[in-house]
This record gives sequence, structure tokens and C-alpha cells, in this order.
Amino acid sequence: MDKYKFLSRLPEALLPWYKVSRRDLPWRQDRDPYHIWVSEIMLQQTRVEAVKGYYTRFLTALPSIAALAECDGEQLHKLWEGLGYYSRVRNLQKAARQIMEHYNGVFPREYKDVLSLPGIGEYTAGAICSIAFGMPTPAVDGNVLRVIARLTDDTTPIDQPAYKKQVQSLLGEIYPSDTGDFTQALMELGATVCGPNRAPDCENCPCKDFCLGYQNKTAGELPIKLPKRGRNVQEQTVFVLSCDGKYAIEKRPDHGLLAGLWQFPNVPRKMPLQGALEQVERFGLKPKEILIQVERKHIFTHIEWDMCGVYIEVAECGGDFRWLSAEEINVQIALPTAFRLFWEELENGKK
Ligand code: ADE
Repeated sequence: MDKYKFLSRLPEALLPWYKVSRRDLPWRQDRDPYHIWVSEIMLQQTRVEAVKGYYTRFLTALPSIAALAECDGEQLHKLWEGLGYYSRVRNLQKAARQIMEHYNGVFPREYKDVLSLPGIGEYTAGAICSIAFGMPTPAVDGNVLRVIARLTDDTTPIDQPAYKKQVQSLLGEIYPSDTGDFTQALMELGATVCGPNRAPDCENCPCKDFCLGYQNKTAGELPIKLPKRGRNVQEQTVFVLSCDGKYAIEKRPDHGLLAGLWQFPNVPRKMPLQGALEQVERFGLKPKEILIQVERKHIFTHIEWDMCGVYIEVAECGGDFRWLSAEEINVQIALPTAFRLFWEELENGKK
């Protein structure tokens, strides 16, 4: 659209800025599609600082698509433990298996083939194809939408799907030959100078000469978003049951939230201590001593768990549980963060 013609100045403004300002991140050391893919999946809902360590550890353990395809589920979940959104890693493995089967273990190079892999949407396909294969495929996420809304002084809510389509198409028309750097420069601007939840640092922005949000002094109020739906709050009582240095854990059901991962036994309501003791008896165990009780919250995208943890010593390792030592819990199993909160409480208490 003519109105946005000035956006063609983006590459010449962003590329030199990116060369000198880019953060030195482990996934920027090469352009191997497997590496870019893993990093983009990890970065989907997780901060850069948190991803760095996971990325290196994951690729050291699983250095190839073949290794990922063959990895056993327990090790896979352990490598992802704490990152959250575990369906991401299950899709990663599903896709690795498809690549082994349909593409001889070589990451596909056609955009439509990349997009058809499990867990890969338009954003990730755009990032992989532009960074690893030199294709002019924009990777448009919330950061990039914010940057474009500010540059064009646009008050359209950025979470409307039609807006994203429009931005993809605008950007697709102005891609320079250095596609990988352009994709990452846009991400970098959106993560730093033009970052979320704070005033943009317009004085240090390479685009200020043509940014309408800067010229019209509206950048700080943009982007506009649709009103959020409230979170559904769910109460839980979580039981940290111990006996002779072992702890009761069990597998979660293989569907739904945190499917197939491990958890401390729990019930979907808060209860007074007397009720908690009776529940322990219903588990088939004999409570000996209540140790401590703590309150914790854990937030998923649309759900909040409001949890009370009760720590109870029981007389025997029984019930329908696995009883594991602290070492086994730390090293062998993937305990999601929502439950690890209670484990850390226990470990910290011992120090
Ligand atoms: N966020 C999403 N992808 C990213 C990348 N490749 N580098 C930095 N932040 C990102």
C-alpha cells in the first residue's frame, strides 16, 4: 500500500544497526536449520535469557535430528523441564520423526513443507526459512507487530488476525537479500529499543527518521490490543508425602494440561489440615506428622493454579504412587515448574 511506502527504508536502517547492536546469542552462531528450529520453538513462549542454557544443553544431548527422533520420552521431558508448554517438545520430536521418514533426515527446504511439520506455524516457518535458507519469508510475532504498529502509527488492534496478514504481506515486499539478518534485526528491535511494556527508546532507534509513531509522539501508546479474557483460577491441594527419605509421585494423565509428566499427588480444591489428613488416608497411607504448609501460585496462559502444599510424613511407602529419592526426583524425572515450586521449598528448607 502506498501509504506504507516508507517502510521500504527499513532494511537500510535496520541492517547496519543490527550488525553493531546485535546481542551475542548461542543460536546466532550458525545457520543450521535444526539449530534455528530448536531455538525458535524454545523462544516461542520463553524469554531469551531463560532459553540460552536450555538451548545449549538440548543440542549437546541431541546434536542431530536423528538423535531427537530417537530420544526416549523421559529424557526429552527432562531436557525441557522448567521451560513449560511441553507440547512444544513433543511436537519437536514428532516433526523430527517425520523428517527422518519423509525427508531422509534432511530438514526440508520448501516453505510449505516446513509449515506442514507439527508445531511449526507461520512465524516459525518464516524464521527458519529466512534465517537458514535465505528466503524472503517474514516471521511476524507480537514484537514485530508492535514495531510495525508504531512505525506506521496504526491503532488497529495488533491481535486481530487480519492485521498480522497485512504485516506479513507488507514485509514480504521489502525483504533485502540478507534475509536472515533482516528477520533477526526486526526481532532485535522489537526486543530491545522498541520493546514491550515500557516506553520505546526512540532517541536510540535506527528508524526514528521515518517512524510515524515517533513523529506523531504516539509510539508510547501503541500498540493497541483487544481486551484480554480473564484467567480461570483453579484451587488445588498438593501433597508432598515423604517416608524414609522417599517421596510419593505419580504420572499425570496422558491428555490435557502437562500431559504425561510427573506430579505430586493433588486434589482439585483447597482443604483445611484435617481434610488433608483424611485425604492422605484415602490415598491408602497413614499420616504420621504434618511438617509444613505453604501457598503457591502458578500461571499458565489461560489458567491460574492457586495451590496449597502440605508436607506430610507417612508411615509406609504405599498407595498408588512411585516412591523416589530426592536424587531420583532431581535427575530422572521431569517435574513441571508448578510442582517443582514445592520441591524447591523442601530443598531450600534443608540448606
Ligand atoms: N525471539 C524469537 N526468536 C528470536 C531470535 N531468533 N532471537 C532473539 N529473540 C527471539
